[in-house]
Amino acid sequence: MEKIQNVLTSKLKEAFLAAGYDPSYGEVRLSDRPDLCEFQCNGALAAAKKYRKAPFMIADDVVAALSHGEKIFDADVVRPGFININVTGEFLADLLGQMDSDPYLSIPQAETPKKIVIDYGGPNVAKPLHVGHLRSAVIGESIKRLARACGDDVTGDVHLGDWGLQMGLIITEMKKRKPELIYFRDDAPSDMDAYPKEAPFTLAELEEVYPCASAKSKEDEAYKAEALEATHLLQMGRPGYRAMWLKIMELSVADLKKNYERLDVSFDLWNGESTVQPYIAPMVEKLKAEGYAHYDQGALVIDVAEPDDKIEIPPCMVLKSDGASLYNTTDLATIVQRMEDINPDEIIYVVDKRQSLYFVQVFRAAIKAHLVGENTKLVHVGFGTMNGKDGKPFKTRQGGVMRLETLLDQIKESMVRKIAENKNVREEDADGTAEIVSLSAIKYGDLSNQASKDYVFDEEKFTAFEGNTGPYILYTIVRIKSILEKACAQGFATDSELLAPADPAEKALMLDLARFGASIEEAYGELAPHKICAYIYETANDFNRFYHGTKILSEENEARRGSYLRLLSIVLKVLNKSIDILGFEAPDHM
Ligand code: ARG
Repeated sequence: MEKIQNVLTSKLKEAFLAAGYDPSYGEVRLSDRPDLCEFQCNGALAAAKKYRKAPFMIADDVVAALSHGEKIFDADVVRPGFININVTGEFLADLLGQMDSDPYLSIPQAETPKKIVIDYGGPNVAKPLHVGHLRSAVIGESIKRLARACGDDVTGDVHLGDWGLQMGLIITEMKKRKPELIYFRDDAPSDMDAYPKEAPFTLAELEEVYPCASAKSKEDEAYKAEALEATHLLQMGRPGYRAMWLKIMELSVADLKKNYERLDVSFDLWNGESTVQPYIAPMVEKLKAEGYAHYDQGALVIDVAEPDDKIEIPPCMVLKSDGASLYNTTDLATIVQRMEDINPDEIIYVVDKRQSLYFVQVFRAAIKAHLVGENTKLVHVGFGTMNGKDGKPFKTRQGGVMRLETLLDQIKESMVRKIAENKNVREEDADGTAEIVSLSAIKYGDLSNQASKDYVFDEEKFTAFEGNTGPYILYTIVRIKSILEKACAQGFATDSELLAPADPAEKALMLDLARFGASIEEAYGELAPHKICAYIYETANDFNRFYHGTKILSEENEARRGSYLRLLSIVLKVLNKSIDILGFEAPDHM
């Protein structure tokens, strides 16, 4: 389906040409003054210099040359030389009819789908998910869905932090607590099936062991050295440590999956830093052999500074001086693996913006050493911090790190209360509805902010049923569903022909719908889910304005009523598709 702006642009280009001007001046865009017109063309202003003619004279020529087979818009010349455009209601109705029968609802589809890997989530195993993990999951999931909606071929990878010092810390602490365990014996079996099925700890224990070990290692050098050694031995494949690592993974990953499921976030790949261990040695060999990496004070590094750098970009370290691999190493090896397995056109990392410099180093190293193809794009979508009302990173009331589960439960609790007050939901549905609505509050609260900015998590604001919030959008959807339900109950058709709008409020709403595809395309181009939020907020507002000013079900003219209902069903589709891309859904009642 052709975009409304393109349809108008091609008409204007024809007219520029017919009037004897260069057609490239015929570009049409959304109006800067929506109070005056819907679209505008500023080409006459730009053409004035070339043709040494007053802009309004050119604009007059162009408007006179417009061929209107069937008239789709009105064009007026406004001094000094703007062409103001208002589309006709008939054209708009026809366009929305086409959009409604398009399975993609006018979202432009990639002609040759790009292969994209999205690296998001990035939780560290054996630590519970906390609010710090929320943004990567929420933004990453939305970008994944957005890319899919535009027809690209996307693989989401959680990229677990499962191979670093935290593993050695847990093993060290467990060894101190339960030295008698089979995992620590010198003759521990190399057959992984020979170990007890049952893990030697519960999840709760594991979650207590890690911070305890981490604190000890900060105070006790010898303890830290032990943990480093354990990490090294694990990475070298010591059987007992590997067996314990598998148990940690089992418990922790099951818990992570449960948590992500509750967030309606899902990954195609559950790979992690550990997955690429076999890729490291050959990669290091290649980097050395081909001269991309060199030793500097014992460490193996790749120089990545460039002459035009405004800030100093330190070399990317591939191996520490003791030969141990590090965060950079696994990220580089993961690029190697992804190129081998998937050969993506693009890898998008949705990671805290405090890691920006790190990604500059890794990306430059990967490009310099040809670990990626010439045209592979590496992109870091860096996000800001979720803060509390005090402007500092979000904490519990006691000042601790808040678990994601706790946050979800807390929001849900307040939602249960609100829903009960509204009395629109049956008691047995209240819990499920509260869960759905709270997710919209959390996700929309996050996504409506530009990702790179910090934002304040304001529970009261995010859960409100009015204002720029997830629940407000859901409330609007529920309102539309309920009108359509009533219409069906009264035997009214909801698929009648769309008529030209009856008033400006209806036209405004129809114009919103007509720019749906372009809005999604723009949001994808900028990897900016907040643009979808802005779009649906405006559309929801325009719908509510229309709704308050229009008698829909009691409209007596059958054709008009049918057209209203058809329009509502398109609004519903557009809003549902939008929130699906954002990563949440709407209940039937709330
Ligand atoms: N686990 C990392 C952290 O907690 C995030 C991983 C981000 N992804 C990546 N490929 N580095 O900081």
